[in-house]
Amino acid sequence: MKKIIKIHLYILILVCLSCQTETKKDTNNSTNQKSFKTEIDSIINLMTLEEKVGQMNQYTGFWDATGPTPESGNQAVKYEHLKKGLVGSMLNVRGAKQVKALQKIAVEETRLGIPLIFGFDVIHGFKTISPIPLAESASWDLEAIKKSAQNAAEESAASGINWTFAPMVDISRDARWGRVMEGAGEDPYLGSKIAIARVRGFQGDDLSSPKTIAACAKHFAAYGFPNAGREYNTADIGTSTLYNLVFPPFKAATDADVKTFMNAFNLLNDIPATGNVFLQREVLKGEWNFNGFMVSDWGSIGEMIPHGYAKNNKHAAELAIKAGSDMDMESNAYVTELANLVKEGTVKESLVDDAVRRILRVKFELGLFDDPYKYCNEETEKNVIGKKVFHEDALDIAKKSIVLLKNKNNLLPLKKQGQKIAVIGALANDKTSPLGNWVLAGENGSAVSVLEGLKQYKGNLITYAEGAKVALPNSKLHFTQELDINKTDKSGFSAAIKLARRSDVVVMVLGEHGLQSGEARSRTNIDLPGVQQELLEEVFKVNKNIVLVLTNGRPLAITWAAENLPAIVETWQLGTQNGNAIAQVLYGDYNPSGKLPMTFPRSVGQVPIFYNYKNTGRPNIKVRKEVFKSRYIDEENTPLYPFGHGLSYTTFSYKNLNINKAPEKEINVTVDVTNTGKVKGKEVVQLYIQDKVASVARPVKELKGFEMIELAPKETKTIEFTLTEKELGFYTNKGAFIVEPGEFNVYVGGSSDTKLSSKFNLD
Ligand code: BGC
Repeated sequence: MKKIIKIHLYILILVCLSCQTETKKDTNNSTNQKSFKTEIDSIINLMTLEEKVGQMNQYTGFWDATGPTPESGNQAVKYEHLKKGLVGSMLNVRGAKQVKALQKIAVEETRLGIPLIFGFDVIHGFKTISPIPLAESASWDLEAIKKSAQNAAEESAASGINWTFAPMVDISRDARWGRVMEGAGEDPYLGSKIAIARVRGFQGDDLSSPKTIAACAKHFAAYGFPNAGREYNTADIGTSTLYNLVFPPFKAATDADVKTFMNAFNLLNDIPATGNVFLQREVLKGEWNFNGFMVSDWGSIGEMIPHGYAKNNKHAAELAIKAGSDMDMESNAYVTELANLVKEGTVKESLVDDAVRRILRVKFELGLFDDPYKYCNEETEKNVIGKKVFHEDALDIAKKSIVLLKNKNNLLPLKKQGQKIAVIGALANDKTSPLGNWVLAGENGSAVSVLEGLKQYKGNLITYAEGAKVALPNSKLHFTQELDINKTDKSGFSAAIKLARRSDVVVMVLGEHGLQSGEARSRTNIDLPGVQQELLEEVFKVNKNIVLVLTNGRPLAITWAAENLPAIVETWQLGTQNGNAIAQVLYGDYNPSGKLPMTFPRSVGQVPIFYNYKNTGRPNIKVRKEVFKSRYIDEENTPLYPFGHGLSYTTFSYKNLNINKAPEKEINVTVDVTNTGKVKGKEVVQLYIQDKVASVARPVKELKGFEMIELAPKETKTIEFTLTEKELGFYTNKGAFIVEPGEFNVYVGGSSDTKLSSKFNLD
């Protein structure tokens, strides 16, 4: 009997697949919703209520957990559920062989044989690790960012993965929050462009290709605004911030046809995001017409109980489905409660059908009904993992992600011959830390260390001292481990100082270990961890020629270094090719071009600090010492390094800022940029606007355009930007997008603190 039904299902699907090609042709650019409607309806008609709910249930694989580990004993139940068709998706399973084994159970042992969709956190690479997403964002190079996602998709797809829980598009202004490493920084315009690049990179033009995977825009919404920067904490924000800042990258991802969304752990204005009707039903599935599916975050349906919003798991399941959460990741709430909720009439079956339809559609689009094992070829896996071109591309974006923060008297680039160079800091000799957090499939110890990178340049004498410990280098670390970040051991100081004394230049590699930022890594102090600051000051006493190579997953407060050291290079955590990229930049074989995607504060007390703030009624513009102004009595208002800042080994001048009004309410802005230095270099030309008077107060500056250019010495290029209503408008407190006439300032330059400005009136 079982077999007959399954065969029936497959015949049905095959028949439907032939109509599908027709439908696709007929409707040309029509949505996939139309393409698979008939097939999906036919399957839903065959499904029992329990099987439908099964499609909405996601279990973690039987090893790597990425959240609180399920109680032991659960595994057997999970296997049973899998065999009964009560599981629609699995996460944290990887490897063509392993995926195939589980897929086989779904396809061959369940009544209807519906394939599973395998999700995984492919956040910045799979085995070949790219820079952490915040670092990649510092490249402002959308093509390189897209390529990085594309490679990650191909590599993970070869290992059985169909779906990544990326990109994280949460805007954040709070460096205390560890997950800023996973986002695109503080700006909604840049964040939206990067969201689109990443979605397109993962999903490509054809989702059914075995080289592409479904993307997931997460965490909807406001997860990047936790109170006091503490992980998972409540977000209290107003409508204007929600619409103008938090939503844009999510909306952009939806417009780029992202296939899935993930909701968030946090309360948003006291309603859990997971149970939030406004977010999921009204905005996402209503206003934005999103037709993919929404997965909960890990256990977030069940977490509505401690939030004080749901009475128990049953109530949580009811609230989540009604709010629009289609798939339950690891709460076990749907699989245990949803069928009963429908049977007793508390939840309408049509809500379940809608969720299942969304999930099945993505499975169809991935081609899983066509061939459920298409992502599970061990031979392909062997050939694709770690391909040479992945490493070349990872090196390319790693170089582009580096930001030169300071370079007094051109200490950089380093001379290639005859120098005695001391390399100091445990992180210089670490082959795991540069991989950063969210590396689940990558191998510990697989990154090129800074020391290895520098030693490839044979003309200098390179010597090394650890100086201060940060974490155990290269050890078997897992991201579920918490690292002791306040190391106090100074036994390495004297060797480091001795070495520095007899060297020409000291390269100090300091910062955070890769596992000191990321999920559940909030900090109240964003200085250099442990005794690294002390080490830096001690070394400085004996040698002032210090190049500080910062490695970190968030902005750090490095005010002393900025005031005292000649050169500072922000290198984040650059992945597998870390040391190679850093060495090429330090030696000038790549002229740095990165720009900060997040403001660097002077001290943690300024956080959250961001360039697109609004003026108070008492702005502290000119007179620092006036009492009744919006300011601190013990600190400047200005940041240490502003958003968009980043130097080059050459210099650029900006002249002739012109504004021309074009028809259709368009504004053309042109500016001449000249390379005024001695070497070729890249510059990210940035355009900001200020809507001077509006019915909802607007920020003092908002990024509304950027372009990366490359100029030879003395070369000038005229750069043109067009501002349309899209750039000139904003959302009101009722969530309506409007454009208001009036005066606008325009700023153009190489950073958000540019002073070159002009203005125009919008009629
Ligand atoms: C994170 C998600 C992630 C999920 C699955 C959660 O803890 O918040 O971003 O995708 O785990 O690993």
